[in-house]
Amino acid sequence: MELEKVTHAENIRLAPGGDAVIIIDQSLLPNETRFLSLREAGEMWEAIHSLRVRGAPAIGIFAAWSLYVLSRDIDEKDFEGFYASLREKADYLNSSRPTAVNLSAMLRRMTDTALENRDAPLSELPDILHREAEAIHNEDMEMCRRISEFGLSLIKNGDGLLTHCNAGPLATSRYGTGQGPFYLAKERGMDIHVYCDETRPLLQGVRLTAWELSRAGVPCTLICDNMAATVMGQGKIQACFVGCDRVAMNGDAANKIGTRGVAILAKYHGIPFYVLGPTTTIDRNCPTGADIHIELRDPEEIKEKFYASPMAPEDVECYNPSFDVTESELITAIITEKGICYPPYEKSLAALFE
Ligand code: MRU
Repeated sequence: MELEKVTHAENIRLAPGGDAVIIIDQSLLPNETRFLSLREAGEMWEAIHSLRVRGAPAIGIFAAWSLYVLSRDIDEKDFEGFYASLREKADYLNSSRPTAVNLSAMLRRMTDTALENRDAPLSELPDILHREAEAIHNEDMEMCRRISEFGLSLIKNGDGLLTHCNAGPLATSRYGTGQGPFYLAKERGMDIHVYCDETRPLLQGVRLTAWELSRAGVPCTLICDNMAATVMGQGKIQACFVGCDRVAMNGDAANKIGTRGVAILAKYHGIPFYVLGPTTTIDRNCPTGADIHIELRDPEEIKEKFYASPMAPEDVECYNPSFDVTESELITAIITEKGICYPPYEKSLAALFE
């Protein structure tokens, strides 16, 4: 019962009446469960930028619903005016965070849907966009389930598994990607133990992953990011599972800062390192990891956020890249809803789209 409550968390939904998107404010978890009802473009942008809604698939789903809500207020006389206004709103939402491709991909899917229906009566376009947002949401549920099944096939009874950041139900629609196999393992009565990196500086591992896994009854141990080498060296880890924000066509994968370090450590210790994500996170316009735009965030996140008082010298320079890119040669397999891709990724990833 508790397991289903966690794996089927309603983290994003349309308000009754359709005039707002309701989200769990992930920036306050786990100390406070507050739901926000967002109506205006500015508050939707802020919710993504401030990680109130976060995780690559979740921001794609949220953006799709948001664009539907905003489309209801477009007051134009012809399709050209409607489409121009819709594009402007989509571009604005898209400017909130650059790295996760799901945001731009789902916004483009929504604006393309409008374009494909240019001959429909103008008054019907919001309903058409509603159906598309619903499809995006439902498809993600199904994708997460399939990714989790494929991931589970790589887990053995008794395994110790390490994960980084949060790629669980909160970051998606259901189950999650990088952490989805852990919930399925629990459902199937398997004996696994998960080690969660705390994930500095925004603590998604502490605040979200450790919280979700504990509530679901998945045995887990929280470690600081710099303890991964030790637990691997002690033989406690049999595989690493992480999510992704953008995968290049050569298999390089952007994910939360610190992921690359875990992959390097896994390689040294001979531990398989798996990246899990829907095919919507694979960017066909991105040949290599060098083409991925990495978000730089406010130094305040390092210097003072989560401390009772500022912890760094006031004027110290800080560098706060929010993501890193793990080179494909460090990745054992990339797990999508269509199957498990092995190197050479140029071939196996391209095959997903044939
Ligand atoms: O900055 P965040 O918290 O949005 O970063 C999230 C991650 O890096 C996740 O691992 C990724 O989005 C996959 S979520 C299924």
